[in-house]
Amino acid sequence: MSKSVLVLYMSRGGHTARIARRIADSVAAAGGRAETMSLLEADKEGVDWTRYDVVALGAPVLYGTYDRSVFDFVAKYRTQLETGPNAFFNVSVVARTPEKTTVAGNRYMQKFLELSPWKPRDLKVIAGKVDYPSWRWHERLMIRLIMKYTHGPTDPTTVIDYTDWDDVAGYGRHLASLAT
Ligand SMILES: Cc1cc2nc3c(=O)[nH]c(=O)nc-3n(C[C@H](O)[C@H](O)[C@H](O)COP(=O)(O)O)c2cc1C
Repeated sequence: MSKSVLVLYMSRGGHTARIARRIADSVAAAGGRAETMSLLEADKEGVDWTRYDVVALGAPVLYGTYDRSVFDFVAKYRTQLETGPNAFFNVSVVARTPEKTTVAGNRYMQKFLELSPWKPRDLKVIAGKVDYPSWRWHERLMIRLIMKYTHGPTDPTTVIDYTDWDDVAGYGRHLASLAT
C-alpha cells in the first residue's frame, strides 16, 4: 500500500506553501500519496487524520518566532499530531548559511521546541526567500537589520530564493520513509 503524507503549512508570503507543494510532489513521484493543507484550512475544514501515515507541519520564521496561528494549531491538535510519525520544518533566511541549516545550529528551531507543546519527532531546517520588494517598508527595515547582523544582502531591491529545491524533494522522500 502506498504511503500517505499530510503536509500542513502556515505561509505568510507563499514560499512555505511552495515548499509544501514540492514536498508533496516528491512524495507522489516516489509512489506515495500526499496532500497539502494550510493550517487555516485544516482548522476550518477539519482533517481526517486517519487517512495519513505521516504528518508534517511547516512554518516560516517571522521576527524571530512563528505566527501565533502556528502555536494555536499545535496546541489544539497536539494529540492528533503525535498519533503517528510526525515532523516539523521551519523556513527562514538565516538558514541560508550551512551552520544555521542544521537543527542544532538554528536557534529558531530551538525556540520552536521550547515554545511548542507538541514535540515533533523529526526536524528539518529549510532556507527561505528574501523578497524585499514584496515586503512593507517597516518589514524591509527590520529584515535588513537582521541581514546586516548576519552578513546577508541588505540592498532593498534584492530577491533571492535560498531554498535548495533538490534537498526539499529529498526531504519529501524522507517523510514518506517515516511511515511505519
Ligand atoms: C515580516 C517578516 C519577518 C521575518 N523575520 C525573519 C527572521 O526573524 N529571521 C529570518 O531568518 N527570516 C525572517 N523572515 C524571512 C522569512 O522567514 C522568509 O522570507 C520565508 O521564506 C517566508 O516564508 P513565507 O513566504 O511562507 O511566509 C521574515 C519575513 C517576513 C516577511
